Amino acid sequence: MTHAEAVEVVVCDLADLAVEEGRTYVVADEQVALFRMRDGSVHAVGAACPHRGGPIADGQCDEQVVWCPLHAFGFDLATGACVNGDLQLPRWDARVDDGRVVVTIPA
Ligand code: FES
Repeated sequence: MTHAEAVEVVVCDLADLAVEEGRTYVVADEQVALFRMRDGSVHAVGAACPHRGGPIADGQCDEQVVWCPLHAFGFDLATGACVNGDLQLPRWDARVDDGRVVVTIPA
């Protein structure tokens, strides 16, 4: 997929996100949970757990993994891969540009 096939969306200010707490946004029709890391980077993953739709943004997280609050499946924030089950959470590229969080959604 080339860059031209994706859309970049300015979602929020980095300051809108608390460190290691998730927040859900609708980005280009996708439900996206954003997580701000201690180093100022941001991860963008699906807001709905692939198990039974739990609210991923409400889960506990550390620098690597977010735990779904409903049944405690954990997902690697960088890849979306489940760390304790055979599930996959969507993820998107996210970056911080001049204090704003930009998420790239494939067309
Ligand atoms: S809904 Fe997320 S672990 Fe069950």
